[in-house]
Amino acid sequence: MKFEKDILCVGAGYVGGPTMAMIAYKCPQYKVTVVDINPTRIAQWNSPNLPIYEPGLQEVVEAARGRNLFFSTDIEKGIEEAGIIFVCVNTPTKTFGEGAGLASDLQYLEKTARQIIQSANSPKIIIEKSTLPVRTAQAMERILASNPKGIHFDVLSNPEFLAEGDAIKDLENPDRVLIGSRETANGIKAREELIEIYANWVPREHIISSNIWSSELAKLVANAFLAQRISSINSISALCEASEADVSEVARAVGMDSRVGPKFLNSSVGFGGSCFQKDILNLVYICRHYGLNEVADYWQRVVDINNYQKGRFVMNMLKAMFNTLAGKRICLLGFAFKADTGDTRESPALFITKKLLDERVNLVITDPAALENAKFDLQGTEGQIDFVADPYEAIAGCEAVAVITEWGIYKELDFERIFSSMTKPAFIFDGRNILDHHRLFKMGFNVFPIGKPALTHF
Ligand code: NAD
Ligand code: UDX
Repeated sequence: MKFEKDILCVGAGYVGGPTMAMIAYKCPQYKVTVVDINPTRIAQWNSPNLPIYEPGLQEVVEAARGRNLFFSTDIEKGIEEAGIIFVCVNTPTKTFGEGAGLASDLQYLEKTARQIIQSANSPKIIIEKSTLPVRTAQAMERILASNPKGIHFDVLSNPEFLAEGDAIKDLENPDRVLIGSRETANGIKAREELIEIYANWVPREHIISSNIWSSELAKLVANAFLAQRISSINSISALCEASEADVSEVARAVGMDSRVGPKFLNSSVGFGGSCFQKDILNLVYICRHYGLNEVADYWQRVVDINNYQKGRFVMNMLKAMFNTLAGKRICLLGFAFKADTGDTRESPALFITKKLLDERVNLVITDPAALENAKFDLQGTEGQIDFVADPYEAIAGCEAVAVITEWGIYKELDFERIFSSMTKPAFIFDGRNILDHHRLFKMGFNVFPIGKPALTHF
């Protein structure tokens, strides 16, 4: 069959895989190939056990895989054949050299650009889907323009706004698709071609365009604003605990103002995930680069409050449990950075685990989807942590349970049974405020929510 377009995606990760699966699913007239340098990941994408857990993903992949969706390690061939290339490689925080701990590590992006000029024999549209510092497209254009074959490349910015756990829903019905381009004839033509792809299923009024720098920056700012809301409500949770106000009631009252809105005001043990911290730190770095130190300081505080919140959670455990945790058996209920994903990148669970191990806790970790990643992340702590899939088994014999991830199944647990299996006095630290605190208190638990008065029997 002759396909209308040949689309390639470089990077088969949390974004590249689901995004391309959705394009292939919605557009059987296009051929979509996803390539990666990691052969294990590609093998998993080609198997019944996909490399990432995402509700609804399996069905979408299975509907399109082998029809017009292909996963491969042959990057050269992919580049040669495609007219449109999405670049969806990782852009983690730099861990070395200038900007270490703040700036984005752009080495994978640059390698991809160089691979493209090596293998390309015809003009192509290159789409930045990775989250990048503002003005990266210029660097990309310059590298691509250095190709000795004189091939013309158009660079577009098309940042991805999906949230993990909701990827399929977000991709199927996005709030907006943002496309940044140069305002040249070629830039506009390239932009129209990308609009044509999304218009197969996204209403036109949800597809917006902008200049290329605004598009790159809007992605960082969108994440910064979302994270800022969480840090704002988390800062207030500390004040609620001190003043006996209830953070859920405060958030509800504030969020009912239509100018504020109710979403993303759930106080928590702190935000995690591969994006928020990385993107804010990158924003901070860029502001400092332009000499905008006050602006940089402002956004840095969003990350500082998040670190404060994670630390506060452990300190509350320590204080509540008579100022010593040494030798106590404590269960972390959840390890993923949020529910409905197995992803543990920057999960608050990592920070809390390290702090609890410093206190010499005898730790048990359970999670319905993230146990393998947790074991991988916690290599080097062998013998100090038990990883147990069944939550009842994990909690039995513990003195405390700390809810770290808001998995729906945790709300449905039989807490009478759990209480009877625990060492007394039994403590619950609800880092997500998902449990019925008064009911638990009546059962005999000492309950420590976030941003609400504790319910204790002493
Ligand atoms: P990821 O680490 O899951 O996937 C990136 C993939 O790129 C990896 O499989 C890696 O092997 C591959 N790769 C790296 N260099 C390569 C190369 N030269 N050739 C081929 N493959 C290469 O990362 P992710 O979570 O999918 O994020 C990708 C980008 O999207 C990042 O910039 C991130 O900030 C952004 N983003 C992520 C999310 C999210 O929820 N995870 C949401 C929006 C945007
Ligand atoms: C985020 C953005 O939402 C998404 O648009 C972007 O493309 C990538 O970064 P993600 O990190 O996958 O997505 O998940 P998100 O739902 O934003 O949650 C991030 C963290 O904030 C999680 O740890 C979550 O538990 C926490 N959170 C979220 C809260 O603590 N309180 C809230 O009210 C909402």
